[in-house]
Amino acid sequence: MIRREEPQDQAAIHDLVRRAFAPMWFSDGSEPDLVDALRGAGDLVLSLVAVTAADEIGGHIGFSPVTIDGADCGWFQMAPVSVSPEVQLQGIGSALIRTGIAALQEQGARGVAVVGNPAYYERFGFAIIPGLAPLAEHDAQFFRAQVLSGTAPQGTLRYAPAFG
Ligand SMILES: CC(C)(COP(=O)(O)OP(=O)(O)OC[C@H]1O[C@@H](n2cnc3c(N)ncnc32)[C@H](O)[C@@H]1OP(=O)(O)O)[C@@H](O)C(=O)NCCC(=O)NCCS
Repeated sequence: MIRREEPQDQAAIHDLVRRAFAPMWFSDGSEPDLVDALRGAGDLVLSLVAVTAADEIGGHIGFSPVTIDGADCGWFQMAPVSVSPEVQLQGIGSALIRTGIAALQEQGARGVAVVGNPAYYERFGFAIIPGLAPLAEHDAQFFRAQVLSGTAPQGTLRYAPAFG
């Protein structure tokens, strides 16, 4: 079951994000605090949890606004995506991603970007958009995006301040 986060979920989300990223070689352990910082700044504009049959929070996904060449343009960053290690590879991450993107689209979002393994994210419609690049050069190789409405933007995409 996927639903929006509620205030009482915050500690469980923090713990889930910590456990999901702990084994990942590329993680510096900052992801749980990132979620809290985004929320604290009012930038966690869409935050979904997946509730397991055991009534536990098994997955989480967050979306935050970005700017492109300094302008608010209805684009969002999808990050982080976290699934509890015990329930990974059961479709929870995919369901969170698809549900999140559909909800954003319903709210009138124009596009969504992600930084991650292209082999995973390209199945959800993320692709290289020529002329659209993240500010951080080290993200470029793993940066993908998808247009939800309108035309593909060009420019430099900057994440919410909590990303640093
Ligand atoms: C990445 C993650 C969110 C995927 O969620 P999930 O519920 O385990 O994945 P799903 O069951 O929806 O999808 C499974 C498929 O994705 C693939 N997949 C899962 N994680 C992947 C990864 N990091 N890179 C590439 N492929 C991946 C699986 O091989 C499987 O492929 P198949 O359908 O061809 O067999 C989850 O594994 C996770 O939380 N990982 C740790 C945190 C993380 O890396 N988050 C993403 C940071 S960019």
